[in-house]
Amino acid sequence: MPVNVLFVCLGNICRSPTAHAVFEQRVAAAGLAEHIYVDSCGTGDWHVGSPPDNRSQQAAGERGYRLAHLRARQLAGDDFSRFDYILAMDRQNLGDIQQRCPADFAGRLGLFLQYCDPQPVSLEVPDPYYGGERGFARVLDLVESAADGLLLELVEHHGLAS
Ligand code: 4NP
Repeated sequence: MPVNVLFVCLGNICRSPTAHAVFEQRVAAAGLAEHIYVDSCGTGDWHVGSPPDNRSQQAAGERGYRLAHLRARQLAGDDFSRFDYILAMDRQNLGDIQQRCPADFAGRLGLFLQYCDPQPVSLEVPDPYYGGERGFARVLDLVESAADGLLLELVEHHGLAS
């Protein structure tokens, strides 16, 4: 059984698909694609079925990540039985997930940026949707740092080796 990791933001078109693609690249580069399954979703349903925002695709593409194949979906009840790690981009997302989280959820629910080393002052990935291009590059900086830390955590905690 792989370790199953779900990234969650509000719309699933900017931050969580970026985390999805970046972490999947890290997992593949480490030779762990068979051991770690990655997915993303949004707490909201406005963009269900849509590809990631063009600005996210552009910013990610400049660093060699491809997002074009991803499609937005909304957090579903069975995600709590399917995923071992459910990682939110900000505290609003985390609160919304906690409200839907069944008492018997056996996995870990928290903020993605808790895995950054060093940890930033804020553990939230700022929503770039209504801002300028720099916000999308900032999302990538934060996500890349947290992805490296999360991979280390999974390798250590689950005894993974490629
Ligand atoms: P995301 O960004 O949560 O990082 O995907 C957003 C995308 C869409 C909206 C808000 C945030 N929206 O309000 O439609």
